[in-house]
Amino acid sequence: MRAAEGPDMETVLEIHLVVAFLLALCAVIFSWSVMGRRVVNAVAGLQFVVGLVAAGMLGKNAPPAVWGHLLVGLLILGAYGMAMGAGKREGGAGRALVFSIVGFVLVFANIWLGLHMAGRM
Ligand code: HEM
Repeated sequence: MRAAEGPDMETVLEIHLVVAFLLALCAVIFSWSVMGRRVVNAVAGLQFVVGLVAAGMLGKNAPPAVWGHLLVGLLILGAYGMAMGAGKREGGAGRALVFSIVGFVLVFANIWLGLHMAGRM
């Protein structure tokens, strides 16, 4: 990284990769409680922002699949958001669990998609 010019593309993608593994770890550990889902949602939000920066830096060089990747990122935030809401409501534990499982599966689907786009798989 050259401080004067800000981070370069490789650095941003490396951060995106590291946060992806952090998100995977958090999803495995924290998806199953009301407080834990807030942690997963926060890390997913961070990953979303880093992804937007990466896509912005790639510009026209971004692969077309990046739109699907962005959409799945939004669905992850939506799923954990709904899970957080449901978990707080009386009798909502079952629905919260269903939304969490959907978010959980989408996290790993998006990591798979990201690794494919980056040519690592
Ligand atoms: C929130 C869930 C997300 C997850 C789990 C995720 C995961 C990943 C992973 C694992 C990679 C491969 C990185 C590498 O090997 O260097 C990747 C690449 C990438 N992601 Fe994401 N990502 C997410 C959201 C986003 C969003 C919202 C954007 C914004 C559009 C984005 C844009 C990108 C771009 C531009 C690449 C690089 C593609 C390339 O090298 O051609 N990501 N993502």
